[in-house]
Amino acid sequence: MDSREIEADLTEVLVTEQQIRDKLAELARRIEADYEGRDLLLVGVLKGAVMVMADLARELKPHVNMDWMAVSSYGAGTTSSGVVKILKDLDSDLSGRDVLIVEDIIDSGLTLSWLTANLASRGAASIEICALLRKPDAAKVEIDVKYLGFDIPNQFVVGYGLDFAERYRNLRDVAILAPHVYS
Ligand code: XMP
Ligand code: MG
Repeated sequence: MDSREIEADLTEVLVTEQQIRDKLAELARRIEADYEGRDLLLVGVLKGAVMVMADLARELKPHVNMDWMAVSSYGAGTTSSGVVKILKDLDSDLSGRDVLIVEDIIDSGLTLSWLTANLASRGAASIEICALLRKPDAAKVEIDVKYLGFDIPNQFVVGYGLDFAERYRNLRDVAILAPHVYS
């Protein structure tokens, strides 16, 4: 789905498909260097991180493992509740593993703060975070994100995996959703 075709639903395109690709390539080079000689386990957070995971993983030259977790934090609304529940847990045993959490967006930071603590309690050798987007003005807790794509304004965005009521995930770019769509 292209931004041009759903123009009326969007206020502004913030990050284009090409900018995302370029940034993920840049992050992949850093990740390859940092994890040289180690077996990396990428942990994607469903469903929003599907696109980031797919493109980042393919950018990486060495073998990586991929696993998935589904957590709920928002329901169908547009603001964070801070309540996190595991909907689907990992298949992998984390003990001794180098884990890189792959996320679409850090908003309040509550989800990742909870998730990092949860994964840390499973005995991973290391845990780092890669997030495509971050809203610095929405932060309620500090998140130590090692690989970050873009800082964006504190507005509700959709596309590239991010949804509103399960729609817009297949939009190629990241864009601000027009308020008339959700109000
Ligand atoms: P927190 O607030 O815990 O939120 O950092 C993280 C999760 O909330 C979702 N989220 C969004 N989803 N547009 C979306 O489609 C947004 O602007 C947005 N902000 C947060 C997302 O699932 C993320 O993993
Ligand atoms: Mg998410």
